[in-house]
Amino acid sequence: MKLSNFGEKLTSKTGILQLMDDLGKALSGKEKIYMLGGGNPAHIPEIEQLFRKRMQEILDNKGEFEHMMGNYTTSQGDNLFIDAVVSFFKKTYGWKITNKNICVLGGGQTTFFFLFNMLAGKFRSGEFKKILFPLVPEYIGYTDQGIANNLFTAQKPLIKFIDNHTFKYFIDFKNLNLTKDISAICVSRPTNPTGNVVTDEEVEKLSRLAKKHNTLLMIDNAYGAPFPGIIFTKTTPIWDEHIVYSVSLSKLGLPSTRTSIVVANEEIIEYLTSINAIVSLTAATVGQHIVTPLLQSGEITKISENIIRPFYQRKSNDAILHFQKHMNPRNPYYLHKSEGALFLWLWCKNLPITSMELYERLKKKKVLVVPGEYFFPGYDKPWKHKNECVRITYSQNETDVKKGLEIIAETVNEAY
Ligand SMILES: Cc1ncc(COP(=O)(O)O)c(C=O)c1O
Repeated sequence: MKLSNFGEKLTSKTGILQLMDDLGKALSGKEKIYMLGGGNPAHIPEIEQLFRKRMQEILDNKGEFEHMMGNYTTSQGDNLFIDAVVSFFKKTYGWKITNKNICVLGGGQTTFFFLFNMLAGKFRSGEFKKILFPLVPEYIGYTDQGIANNLFTAQKPLIKFIDNHTFKYFIDFKNLNLTKDISAICVSRPTNPTGNVVTDEEVEKLSRLAKKHNTLLMIDNAYGAPFPGIIFTKTTPIWDEHIVYSVSLSKLGLPSTRTSIVVANEEIIEYLTSINAIVSLTAATVGQHIVTPLLQSGEITKISENIIRPFYQRKSNDAILHFQKHMNPRNPYYLHKSEGALFLWLWCKNLPITSMELYERLKKKKVLVVPGEYFFPGYDKPWKHKNECVRITYSQNETDVKKGLEIIAETVNEAY
């Protein structure tokens, strides 16, 4: 069958789709697999209990279940939920926003698909505009989201060594070129895959740059503030008319509800609402119903800070210690400073094999990770570093994570 450009773009077997196929096939056998490759949030018993309790309340409240299941909301989202979101952000951060600054969409993935394609690509004037990632590595899921080709451009980071086996990326502002064809800057914070948290100072700088150049700054807080709060550094989130702030319910433990929230200026919200009406009519309501009272009471902050963050921070610390224990300290390997999200980003400097070969060797030993080269959307220039890193997920059960890390350490030591 022949497909349109749109059809071709979204069905072409790109690197990541092939990799997912590969993972699927690897998983279909009967042998034990150590899944350190995915992005699923952990199942945290206290959080699961809370959501179960909320569901029971919805079932017990006369008419609420029927209302939740049986009604479309407006294309902007459920009114009660939007009210709760506005009050929550005003109270938490003092942002000057109203209901007209909020839109509820079907997850962060959908949000960025809408944003990227409405802001970049070919314009009526004949201009071609792009999205700038000021720091790669960046989220693999952005890579194939552009309907037009070459929608993204990116800047490689500065690398700062923190100790013998730890480093951190910073934005290379000196070389960051906000050319006329950039319509928006985009960062995930914390960053998937590295666990980097772009500092407040960097965000302020990006915001000033975006404002000066009349562009937008999009901040993807899938793991970050204010919820689910899988962010280990202290940050002060900011919002302004030129900032598009996106959060999602997925990493709170509700990925199946497909719910995200965008805080943006009224014009952007109107456009997103229109696109949502055309593509989906409206977002799903279950997540909005479950979370509304938690926003109203502020409990969502408490569970993020007191349960979710410590849970992941502990898992991250344990994973780092365990990995380092099994690595030969003389090898020049580095982990990115773990500042949030669900991943360790391992850089094997000067490893004689590529990260793709490392991935293949690990797959043979039943450990799945994601090779680093997929995490450089918009950065096509050759750079050895791209082939020296892998992403390791530490969110799954402790026994599997430990065993997986041991096999990774052993395989890397062998390869050096
Ligand atoms: C940085 C980032 N943004 C967005 C998403 C999309 O998540 P969702 O569509 O479940 O909100 C993910 C998922 O892993 C992510 O890591």
